[in-house]
Amino acid sequence: MALLNDNYLKLKAGYLFPEIGRRVKAFCDAHPDAAKRLIRCGIGDVTEPLPPAVVTAMHRAVDEMGARESFKGYGPEQGYDWLRHAIAQNDFRDKGLEVADDEIFVSDGSKCDCGNILDILGDKNKIAISDPVYPVYVDTNVMAGHTGEANEAGAYGRLVYLPCKPANGFIPAPPKKHVDVIYLCSPNNPTGAAATREQLEAWVTYAREHKSVILFDAAYEAYITEPGIPHSIYEIPGARDCAIEFRSFSKNGGFTGTRCAFTVVPKTLNAYTKSGEARPLHPLWNRRMTTKFNGVSYVVQRAAEALYSPEGKQQVAALIQLYLDNAAVLRKGAKRAGLKVFGGVNAPYIWVRTPKGITSWQAFDKILADANVVITPGSGFGSKGEGFFRISAFNSRENAAEVAARLQELKW
Ligand code: MLT
Repeated sequence: MALLNDNYLKLKAGYLFPEIGRRVKAFCDAHPDAAKRLIRCGIGDVTEPLPPAVVTAMHRAVDEMGARESFKGYGPEQGYDWLRHAIAQNDFRDKGLEVADDEIFVSDGSKCDCGNILDILGDKNKIAISDPVYPVYVDTNVMAGHTGEANEAGAYGRLVYLPCKPANGFIPAPPKKHVDVIYLCSPNNPTGAAATREQLEAWVTYAREHKSVILFDAAYEAYITEPGIPHSIYEIPGARDCAIEFRSFSKNGGFTGTRCAFTVVPKTLNAYTKSGEARPLHPLWNRRMTTKFNGVSYVVQRAAEALYSPEGKQQVAALIQLYLDNAAVLRKGAKRAGLKVFGGVNAPYIWVRTPKGITSWQAFDKILADANVVITPGSGFGSKGEGFFRISAFNSRENAAEVAARLQELKW
């Protein structure tokens, strides 16, 4: 008798975005005319084509793969040296941050890495998770057996939830109690809030005191517009001893379909054996990657490298600006509609309070039915997301303006 992983049976419903997709499909099947004017601002998926510098690099790389003398088979599991170097140099060392080339591990996505990282962490850790939060952090811990059952509100036993509300600017402070692993996402998905230096310093101080590990998701760092907001956890002194950082090319280079990201594991970062002996995590992650992964394709790594070329950098900046301008349009539209609006300044997400007495899913249904716009219900990100919804700014300018206009026409 083959036993299944019964942790999967603890998971609530489907993963949020397929669930939204299912509901949207049912609506469109039932209302074909409304379906024609549907605008999707649900999942944070980019809409603009790849930057020209990337396309040129990919064409060239495909040609190399088609010629015997330049063909490549398996590449290094951790990523090609030239890409690891370009990342460490441009994203860190040029900004005065100490990150070595071999501390960069290139992968096919931050979502994957956020889940995979649990392979090298123990299963008795106390895990702190913001609420609301990117659902992947919670669900991968459920799958790995790190939680108890979910309660009525969808909160899982053994996880320490850190409420993120307007009162704390949606950035949680370190808890009074001890936790071993801390997920932080800044700029935040879903709330769009970005942690200040002081807030991150408090977390690094806590993590060092408690010998905890911070899993810092910086997938949206390119959207930071306000000066002084850290783009990397390594801007905080001491973070190299307590933090892993996840970065992605999805939301800056438009790689959601191309797939490339990286994780930084400093060689100075330790975790502990059951007997309390400090051991570096870097060799464990290296071992995990070389055993379970065969690397990102050569063509895609060349594409990612092109994002660091002078033209690539300009083209990325233009893409980010387009989505940030959309965010401003959407913020304005939602405000004019009389809604209370957060985020959208350092992030491509606008976090909106639902009108009084309306739940997140009721808002989702109403906006879908009356405005033919797909948003994401806040409660899908955790119980403290109830009473909010998220609008993604990843869209064309025309669509963003149209969504802003339709929001203002809604009668609640
Ligand atoms: C989101 O909409 O929250 C993101 O697209 C999820 C992701 O990047 O995986």
